[in-house]
Amino acid sequence: MRSKIVAGNWKMNKNLEETEALLTALSAKLPDTQAEVMVAPTYVNLNTSVRHLESSTIQVIAQNMHFAENGAYTGEISADMLLHIGIDTVIIGHSERRAYFGETDEILAKKVTAALAKNMRVMFCFGEELEDRKSGNHFAVVESQLKNALFSLDAGSWSKIILAYEPVWAIGTGETASPEQAQEMHAFIRKTIAGAFDAGIAENVTILYGGSVKPANAEEIFSKPDVDGGLIGGASLNADDFVAIIKAI
Ligand code: G3P
Repeated sequence: MRSKIVAGNWKMNKNLEETEALLTALSAKLPDTQAEVMVAPTYVNLNTSVRHLESSTIQVIAQNMHFAENGAYTGEISADMLLHIGIDTVIIGHSERRAYFGETDEILAKKVTAALAKNMRVMFCFGEELEDRKSGNHFAVVESQLKNALFSLDAGSWSKIILAYEPVWAIGTGETASPEQAQEMHAFIRKTIAGAFDAGIAENVTILYGGSVKPANAEEIFSKPDVDGGLIGGASLNADDFVAIIKAI
């Protein structure tokens, strides 16, 4: 079901003490909101974070997971390990996983399938590179990413999918997509899903925007009809900035 979501992807930041301090500040400053608020600390701090937020509405989610049930995968984390500590939502396909760790559409499809098999919610990230947009190929790239990872799903699985469109050229650069660019791509994504499945699934899927969302630009981006919230990187590492973005939705 379509919902408003503001999620913070902390990436490889915050040690244990810094994590606890940020979560304490967020809990204290969290505004009343209809939106779901999520934070994604690093693996080593997930368990502490879940315990820290036991009495909060803030959800703790994972930045990644492996598709295997368990076994000889040094350095990896399974869906069951996340579920066991109370994590039921996982980010899959972030551009940094694709770029730095070679995660292909095929690998990502396996991860999506593995997460859904455990009844987890999947926050699926995708987005074009700058050269794709400059060459006018951005719609084809986004459509391909969606099709290769998600279009083999059955209709019922879409209730567990959250989409996060993150143009790679806007991530960590301060170069935010304009609200019009975000709306144009989000509308295209919804139209593509409607064509592959049906209008109901397309209308009900939550589509987040990510890429240099800040307190100064959040309200205008979130005001667009097909933008249902944001996946926030750098600005989620500061309680006041993240709270300001939550207030904007
Ligand atoms: O996953 C969110 C992230 O990629 C966006 O990062 O720092 O541009 O908000 P940032």
